[in-house]
Amino acid sequence: MTKIGTDISLAVHLLKEGLIIAIPTETVYGLAGNALNEDAVTNIFTIKNRPFFDPLIVHTDQLSKLSPLIGTIPEPLQMLARHFMPGPLTILVEKTEQMSDLVTSGSRKVAIRIPNHPLTLALLSRLDFPLAAPSANPFGYVSPTTAQHVADQLGDKVSYILDGGSCQIGLESTIVDYRENQIVVLRKGGIPIEEIEALVGPVQVYEQSSSRPSAPGMLDQHYAPSTPLTLQPLEEVLQKFKKEKIGYLAFDKLHPDLPNDHQKVLSPSGNLSEAAHHFFRYLREFDKMDLEIIAATLVPDRDLGRAINDKLKRGAIKN
Ligand code: TXA
Ligand code: MG
Repeated sequence: MTKIGTDISLAVHLLKEGLIIAIPTETVYGLAGNALNEDAVTNIFTIKNRPFFDPLIVHTDQLSKLSPLIGTIPEPLQMLARHFMPGPLTILVEKTEQMSDLVTSGSRKVAIRIPNHPLTLALLSRLDFPLAAPSANPFGYVSPTTAQHVADQLGDKVSYILDGGSCQIGLESTIVDYRENQIVVLRKGGIPIEEIEALVGPVQVYEQSSSRPSAPGMLDQHYAPSTPLTLQPLEEVLQKFKKEKIGYLAFDKLHPDLPNDHQKVLSPSGNLSEAAHHFFRYLREFDKMDLEIIAATLVPDRDLGRAINDKLKRGAIKN
């Protein structure tokens, strides 16, 4: 039986022993281990069934604690860090020799972030090493937003699940890099691009169609539920599948042509933050319903909607 609880001292003890636990963040749950312990880092990849070429984010409660591990943070990224950390922002910075190549998959840059969750901040403040943590889902599946989601899939593989409730934001962090004097958004996430641009001016956004992704998380067919997902209009899906085999992920209103218990509305009031909070959870709930297809609609393409749409497009079957 997996241990789920809120015992920070136990979590500290297990991490110091080099073991792997799940931690809550404001974005999604993470699969955490001592970033300075190569055995622990290797175990994270193994538990998640993640290829070693896909690097991990390093979590801390204070950037100053990372100073032996990273180089100077470029001023534009420092500005973002001052404004959005702790929060759903990850920045890429040069690493030193003391940061393992295993964590960065050989890249000379490391991804760092300060998660904004009281339990995990308390945990990090009691550690003298940072935590490497990818999202706590098997590679390729949607991210977990509750402790139970983690227990469902990885429960027998982690030493403890620190339960911080349901993740407030529900989408992963926004990842930004600074290259050739330009801020580049590599992954759309919990900080809307509009908020970043309000602070630093126009940024480059890494789009899905690029053929050579520099963040492996940008690969197509990531973040998909097990049930095939389509963006075809529900009218067309209804011609191909029986009603009882269809799930419909709507943005703000039910569709008249499908029973209500086969539909999930992301936000009845049309609020994109609420939609983000429900997004991964609803995909998981559909996956438990013995469906043949999940039909989804894109949401308004602004704020957190851009990250939701990005995930919908990536997760949808090509037809
Ligand atoms: O919100 C989040 O960021 C969550 C929570 C747990 O913090 N973590 C998360 O980690 O989403 P993960 O591993 O599922 O996604 C991190 C993404 C991956 O696509 C990875 O390729 C990219 O970050 N990444 C990590 N380190 C990188 C690096 N050094 N250079 C480029 N991309 C990097
Ligand atoms: Mg992930």
